[in-house]
Amino acid sequence: MKIIALANQKGGVGKTTTAVNLGCALAQRGHRILLIDLDPQANATSCFGMQDLEGESLYEPLLREAPIADKVLPTRLDKMFIIPADLDLAGAEIEIARGPDHLTRLSETLEPFRADNAFDYIFLDCPPSLGILMTNALAAADELITPIQCEFFALEGLAKIVRVIEQVRKSGANDRVEIAGIVMTMFDGRTNLSGQVVAEVRAHFSDRVYDTVIPRTVRLSEAPSFGKSIFEYDPNGPGARAYRALADEFIRRHASETT
Ligand SMILES: Nc1ncnc2c1ncn2[C@@H]1O[C@H](COP(=O)(O)OP(=O)(O)O)[C@@H](O)[C@H]1O
Ligand SMILES: [Mg+2]
Repeated sequence: MKIIALANQKGGVGKTTTAVNLGCALAQRGHRILLIDLDPQANATSCFGMQDLEGESLYEPLLREAPIADKVLPTRLDKMFIIPADLDLAGAEIEIARGPDHLTRLSETLEPFRADNAFDYIFLDCPPSLGILMTNALAAADELITPIQCEFFALEGLAKIVRVIEQVRKSGANDRVEIAGIVMTMFDGRTNLSGQVVAEVRAHFSDRVYDTVIPRTVRLSEAPSFGKSIFEYDPNGPGARAYRALADEFIRRHASETT
C-alpha cells in the first residue's frame, strides 16, 4: 500500500479534480483506492454527491474517538472508497495543534491500513493552505503528486512547496517524502503560454513531470455539480481520456510495487 498526497498550497490548481478522477481511473483498472478528503470545504466529497453526510469525516479518528475503518464508505464505483470531509475537520485542526504529536497524528491514524493492506493506494486530497492538515498529509505520505496549473507563476508555487517538504523532512516527521509526480493541469492548447509553462516546468523537474497533460475542458468543471466523476459524466471526452492516460502512466511508474 502506498499513501499519496495530492498537495499544492495553492488553491484551484486541480488537486481535487486529479484526486477524484485519477483515483476513479485506477479503480476502473482494478486497483483498490481509498480517497480521503482532507479539505473541510469537502469538494472531493461533493464530486461523489456525498456532501450532506454528517459525522462521517476523519474528524473522530484523528481525535482518537472512532476507528478509522468505520469511516470508509463505498462509492458507486467498485473498488473506489472514500472518507468524506465536513466542516468539523477544520475543528480537528485546532484540536490537533495542541498535542505534542501534532505533525504525525494523521500518519498514526492511517496505521491500521498499512497493517492490513486493505487498499493499493490511499489518496489524500489536501486543503489549499499550509495548515496542520496539509503538514500532517506530508508527514504521512510516501510520495506527493503536485498538480500545477499551466499559468505564469507555476514555478514560484512549486518552489514554495519544495521548501515546505524540506521543512517536514528536517522536522523528522517524514524523511522519505518527496514530489514523485508533477501533473500539469488546465492546459490550453490555443495559447502559447500553456506550452511555455509546461516546457519550463519540465526543464526544472524533468522526468518527475508526467508526460500526460490535462487539458482545460469545461466538462471537468461541470462533473462535480452532478456528483459525478468525469467517467460517468463525459466518459469519451478529452478530460476522461486524459485522466485514463494519466492512470496508465501512474501504473507504469508504480509497476514495481503493485501486487
Ligand atoms: N482540466 C480542467 N479543465 C477545466 N476546469 C478544471 C480542470 N481541472 C479543474 N478544473 C476546475 O477548476 C477548479 C479548481 O479545481 P480543483 O480540482 O478544485 O482545484 P484544487 O483542489 O487544487 O483547489 C474547479 O472548479 C474545477 O472543476
Ligand atoms: Mg481541492
